[in-house]
Amino acid sequence: MKPVITLFRTVYSPADIQTAGLPEICISGRSNVGKSSLINRLANRRNLARISRIPGKTQSINYYLVGSNCYLVDLPGYGYAKVPKSSKKLFAELVKSYLNGRQELKGIIQLLDARHGLVGGDYDMVEWIKMWGGRVLYVFTKADKLSSGGRIKMKKKFEHVFNTEHIVMFSAKTGIGAESIWLWITETFCMAKSNTIL
Ligand code: GTP
Ligand code: MG
Repeated sequence: MKPVITLFRTVYSPADIQTAGLPEICISGRSNVGKSSLINRLANRRNLARISRIPGKTQSINYYLVGSNCYLVDLPGYGYAKVPKSSKKLFAELVKSYLNGRQELKGIIQLLDARHGLVGGDYDMVEWIKMWGGRVLYVFTKADKLSSGGRIKMKKKFEHVFNTEHIVMFSAKTGIGAESIWLWITETFCMAKSNTIL
């Protein structure tokens, strides 16, 4: 049985970012790439995380409790041009404060659009992730918009680009890839727990 996912806390300002000491996995990606849809699909709920056609919907950091002692953290999306400069700056500060020196962060799920691969702000984010050096899963969203051949091609290409096998072609619409994401999440939290014991 999958653990239940519930919304735990919404954070709007860097000062409110908590350090509860529980292991966390964050979900990062461009605005509109499908971060909230991924959470809903994992939770098997339609409206747990708010989804919108309009990019920039999630303007806060949302903590979701997975079972009783781990968090999935939905970060605000980057790279949407139409968001006012002032709020863009606020998002960037919020995300930076979250990411910097975060002991609780045990893994990052980096979302990329299956149709486009790396675009705009993705390059900076991927660079940061490499520097960070922890566990990462690259999830290519909206894979339902590609043919099965297209999905295989994209996966192969990015296994090479990122030099990793931790790549999942995912669709929030059809559910493909969701099991593999769960597996990686479970593995990451298990590893975090066993490291704490050691
Ligand atoms: P922000 O909160 O603005 O950063 O966006 P987000 O990354 O949370 O994206 P969200 O989940 O809100 O999805 C954006 C749009 O893409 C919505 O219209 C979704 O229905 C659509 N979408 C998300 N995932 C998929 C998918 O796997 N397939 C298809 N076809 N559409 C998707
Ligand atoms: Mg969102």
